[in-house]
Amino acid sequence: MNDFILENLKKLKKNKIPNPEIDLRILLNYSRLINNEIILSNFNINQINIKIFSIILNRRLANEPISKIINKKSFWKDDFYVNEFVLDPRPETEGIIEESKKIFYNRKRNIKILDIGTGSGAIAISLAREFENADILAIDISEDAIKVANKNIRDKKLHDRIKLKKTTINYIDKNFDLIVSNPPYLTKKELKNISQEIRNFEPIISLDGGEDGLKFYREFAKKIPQILNSNAYFIIEIGEKQCDECRKIFSASSLKFEKKAQDLQKKDRIMVFSKL
Ligand SMILES: C[S@@+](CC[C@H](N)C(=O)[O-])C[C@H]1O[C@@H](n2cnc3c(N)ncnc32)[C@H](O)[C@@H]1O
Repeated sequence: MNDFILENLKKLKKNKIPNPEIDLRILLNYSRLINNEIILSNFNINQINIKIFSIILNRRLANEPISKIINKKSFWKDDFYVNEFVLDPRPETEGIIEESKKIFYNRKRNIKILDIGTGSGAIAISLAREFENADILAIDISEDAIKVANKNIRDKKLHDRIKLKKTTINYIDKNFDLIVSNPPYLTKKELKNISQEIRNFEPIISLDGGEDGLKFYREFAKKIPQILNSNAYFIIEIGEKQCDECRKIFSASSLKFEKKAQDLQKKDRIMVFSKL
């Protein structure tokens, strides 16, 4: 292999970057000057803008996630624009889309959906893809996140179907057939111990669930029953150890626990409630 490749792989390995070959290929392609995809085995230095490559390599060496460097993260069936103001959408969150599809199997129905804490807009946009006649409201407290969601919604030409609002659940007075949320749910202790990649490059507002991580679920238990129609559903993502606590919190509300779903590591990550 080319010396340039070997040298840069060595740097990535020295900094304990997982999957150095994959990352190096992505970084090279991000800085490429040619049309064709660059592959490591027949790389030639004239194929890249070396200045851009050095900058982004140094960012990766400082543990910045690839997604934040190339401003792109895949979720469900799309690629999303992401930056420092939004949490990267994660595979476990796709469980919200899967459970929604199981419940509303008539995909042509005109359901009203609310996505609380939309971030990049990944959940709202993926639901719009699955339910072609749904009306969707996506809200977030962060102005910067709303800008990112707006870009993603416009890029995908879904602005007629998804309304965006900078607000919190307290100001919502319409009713919905499906309410979804992946709220911030880390405890104070977990926040202290998170990896550098998360601490330095994900917005704290997307992670901080208060002292015990359950702040948002308590708010939801109070408000959601008031803004759900009858025969309607509420689907949330939870932290891997929060299932029992969340069941307790919601048992005091009028919502009925329907089921939980696990992620690929077999951890409870999604809870489904109904108002019948
Ligand atoms: C864990 S992130 C989820 C982002 C996106 N929905 C996803 O699943 O990838 C939580 C989001 O909730 C937003 N948020 C935090 N507090 C909020 C509040 N009180 N009301 C509405 N959104 C809030 C954050 O700005 C962040 O975008």
